[in-house]
Amino acid sequence: MGRQIYIFDTTLRDGEQSAGINLNTREKLEVARQLAKLRVDVIEAGFPISSRGDFEAVKAIAQEVKGPVIAGLARANLKDIDRAWEALQYAEKGRIHTFIATSDIHLQYKLKKTKEEVLKMAEKAVRHAAACGSEVEFSAEDASRTELDYLCDVIEAAIEAGAGIINIPDTVGYSTPKEFGDFISQIRQRVPGIENVILSVHCHNDLGMATANSLAAVASGAQQVECTVNGLGERAGNTALEEVVMSLATRKDFFDCYTGIKLDEIYRSSRLVSSLTASPVQANKAIVGRNAFAHESGIHQDGVLKERTTYEIMNPATIGIVMDGIVLGKHSGRHAFKERMEQLGFDLTEEELGIAFEKFKDLADRKKTISDSDLEAIVAHEVKTVPEKFTLEKIQIYTGTNIIPTATVGVKVEDKYVEDASCGDGPVDAVFKAIEKVTGFHVELAHYSLNAISGGKDAVGEVTVKVIYNNNLYLGRGISTDILEASARAYLSAINKLVNGQGEESLTNGN
Ligand code: KIV
Ligand code: ZN
Repeated sequence: MGRQIYIFDTTLRDGEQSAGINLNTREKLEVARQLAKLRVDVIEAGFPISSRGDFEAVKAIAQEVKGPVIAGLARANLKDIDRAWEALQYAEKGRIHTFIATSDIHLQYKLKKTKEEVLKMAEKAVRHAAACGSEVEFSAEDASRTELDYLCDVIEAAIEAGAGIINIPDTVGYSTPKEFGDFISQIRQRVPGIENVILSVHCHNDLGMATANSLAAVASGAQQVECTVNGLGERAGNTALEEVVMSLATRKDFFDCYTGIKLDEIYRSSRLVSSLTASPVQANKAIVGRNAFAHESGIHQDGVLKERTTYEIMNPATIGIVMDGIVLGKHSGRHAFKERMEQLGFDLTEEELGIAFEKFKDLADRKKTISDSDLEAIVAHEVKTVPEKFTLEKIQIYTGTNIIPTATVGVKVEDKYVEDASCGDGPVDAVFKAIEKVTGFHVELAHYSLNAISGGKDAVGEVTVKVIYNNNLYLGRGISTDILEASARAYLSAINKLVNGQGEESLTNGN
């Protein structure tokens, strides 16, 4: 059976530190529930001291999500650790993850502390975290650029102080596979007591080697890999969960390791994270990209038709991609729709199914065939939504060359109908200004993006907006075959979140 490799998912912490990503507590809970279904061993739910929003999310996840260990990040100081434990204490099994940088560069320029001081801080932090009654993970930030003798001393001190998990980050994605693998072997040989703890690695992808470095570490004896769904994370991201897990599964002959991951939940996890974070997955992304199992060349197609394994080393069904379902369109009935939803793994109540079916019929009137991505978008945008104070009823735009764009928007406000019009710098601007008039909320637009969910002339467009109101950030999304309507829906959904108080207090979540 081989060795078990523990999967520590940090999508909600390091992943959420990616530029432009900001999830609210409800969205973080949705991701955490899916991570539990995926059966990750550890969910790093956030960095509790970084903001009130992060604290609340970690607490909510600790209270609700059962199965995986729930971890929270804390710098190596008592205040951070106490705040982390305040949120984590409710978990079935909580883990305080405390860290301090150990490389000369970080000591000299960032911390302005001596090696002795940092070693003492690490020791004190771990001892304090262990005294909370929590399982403790210690990370030596920038470990891969740390002088080895000193790193071994810090690790030894952390183990003696009570750390049960030692994490070796390649914080800036600087290492290479052979070098990182050897580094892990050295640590295993030199640190007394290392055999009694879980040795973990945490790689960043600045040179595109995060997965390779993590796997080299596994080959050298590392037992835990820290990663994120779709490789989200600071700068170029973290090690991609799906790449590590599928490498270990596909090349079991080589690694002789296994994970507890439920492989057929990988694709769904990828789609959910992509949709909630509004971060499209690049088409040629390994494992979960749109083209990961597409065979374009005639020779390849011929080969795959004769024998799939000629050009496919993995079966898409293994990661939960449903390849040959029924094609849904205008004439499809509720039964076929329900069956497809079940095949895609959606667990909808009868009421939710009814809403989804109605939206599907509306879309099918405008679009010939409805793809799985369209169905996922319907569930994400139309079913699992926040209660709406403002519902879009009408949108009419007058635009063209040498014309000042004008938009009229009609909105149902509880049971009243309100309509108003506005001009703008462009049609989208006109729509947003008209919405501000009818809702009475004047917000600052911080982000706008448009993404085609499915291909073709009748593709469904997904618009994501981020708006700021009273220093809080609200994310809104909308879909439609008409991009101006999708824009209006996105803007209104952000305003509905504002009305429901579902924003994020802090605009930054870094460490
Ligand atoms: O990259 C890094 O070093 C980190 C640590 C906090 C584990 O994210
Ligand atoms: Zn990191």
